[in-house]
Amino acid sequence: MAKSPDSVLSCLDMNGEPLAAGVLWYAFRQLLGNNGYVHLVGVPESFDHVAFLKELGEFQPTSTGTLVGDVKPERGMDDVNHGQNRGALTPHTEGYEFQGLPPRHLALWCVTPPSGQGGETTLFDGDRILAEFTEDERLHLRDTVYRWGSTEGLARHGVTPTAEHPVLEEHKGEPILRFSTNYLAVPEGDETARRLIDRGNVLFAEQHIAVRYQARDMVVWDNWRMLHSRNAFEDPSRHLKRVLIAA
Ligand SMILES: [Fe+2]
Repeated sequence: MAKSPDSVLSCLDMNGEPLAAGVLWYAFRQLLGNNGYVHLVGVPESFDHVAFLKELGEFQPTSTGTLVGDVKPERGMDDVNHGQNRGALTPHTEGYEFQGLPPRHLALWCVTPPSGQGGETTLFDGDRILAEFTEDERLHLRDTVYRWGSTEGLARHGVTPTAEHPVLEEHKGEPILRFSTNYLAVPEGDETARRLIDRGNVLFAEQHIAVRYQARDMVVWDNWRMLHSRNAFEDPSRHLKRVLIAA
């Protein structure tokens, strides 16, 4: 069952006027640090999503090379696990299949909200999965190098990145969690990794946050901490923009 979002930030003050940039930025940083994500609502037409996000860091190209990507259903892709279709996705962190560091933050904002059911971006705090693991188990996830694949959807476009990384890593004192329900190759007998994926999915299903979009709404999250996914939808006009922000 989905929880209602508790990290919602309105861009408008009590009088319906846009918040001053400094105030908005301060509240945004605070919520992002505390909760791992922020859902910006009441976004005025004058709001520049790209300029706002540039304050957070450099944009990182996706596997297909775009910096500000479009997330829209592609024709003929509904039968595979792929971001550019209308199906549900399984919980993951972004960029587990990249060489090097995964993007630090992810941002999605809404151009055209879907009508009808579904299409929510769903999120869950990976710290709450790791809390079920002992110190020794976490060391195992840090000291074991796993193979990570990529989606059939990208493969159909001729992009098949794979990488080798541990599940847990540290970069300049900051922990990184990588998670993929489908594309972490769990070695035979690795009960810890198996349980991470299985429990992660159970907890995600029970306790995720579901972000339903209005036009211009934006959700930004810490991709080194949060898992994300998506509910299936029908409306082919759903259109989001997406940016990956480097460490
Ligand atoms: Fe994703």
